[in-house]
Amino acid sequence: MRLIEPVSAAEFEQYYELRWKILRAPWNQPRGSERDALDATSTHIMVIGAGKAALGVGRLHFNSISEAQIRYMAVDVGQQRQGIGTLILKTLETRGAVLGATRIVLDARETALGFYCKQGYITTGPGHMLFNRIAHVKMSKIL
Ligand SMILES: CC(C)(COP(=O)(O)OP(=O)(O)OC[C@H]1O[C@@H](n2cnc3c(N)ncnc32)[C@H](O)[C@@H]1OP(=O)(O)O)[C@@H](O)C(=O)NCCC(=O)NCCS
Repeated sequence: MRLIEPVSAAEFEQYYELRWKILRAPWNQPRGSERDALDATSTHIMVIGAGKAALGVGRLHFNSISEAQIRYMAVDVGQQRQGIGTLILKTLETRGAVLGATRIVLDARETALGFYCKQGYITTGPGHMLFNRIAHVKMSKIL
């Protein structure tokens, strides 16, 4: 298992494939729906397995000079609860701090609240409802 920043087209293909598979496919969302305009300027982190397949992914972008946001955290089914998500989250936080962030915000799926609470995030209010089905909670952490 290795933590990398995707660079090549093949690595990015794996990266977006896992994002789609975990965060979009279960809700019948089309390929492409897992991407947004901020991907081009964001930090992307990926954990890969022996065969170079993506096991976990996550992204960090900046909302302002001091506030960064984490999005699209996803660990493959069968690989969850082994520390991969924590490794990716901590790596994104460290990168955020190096780039000047003093605060990280995110919109957590209610089902992932426990994961972010364990990493020191606190809830700051209700979030949006995705696909009319997935409730989110706003969270933040001071670095
Ligand atoms: C949420 C997610 C990214 C966490 O990654 P992970 O690799 O499974 O998490 P870790 O193994 O690093 O978890 C560390 C700790 O966080 C907590 N945790 C992890 N997932 C949790 C969950 N779904 N609910 C509650 N607590 C959770 C546990 O305390 C866990 O420690 P434990 O396994 O010893 O009890 C991953 O489960 C996932 O991709 N889920 C589906 C997609 C999703 O919800 N993404 C987040 C969108 S906001």
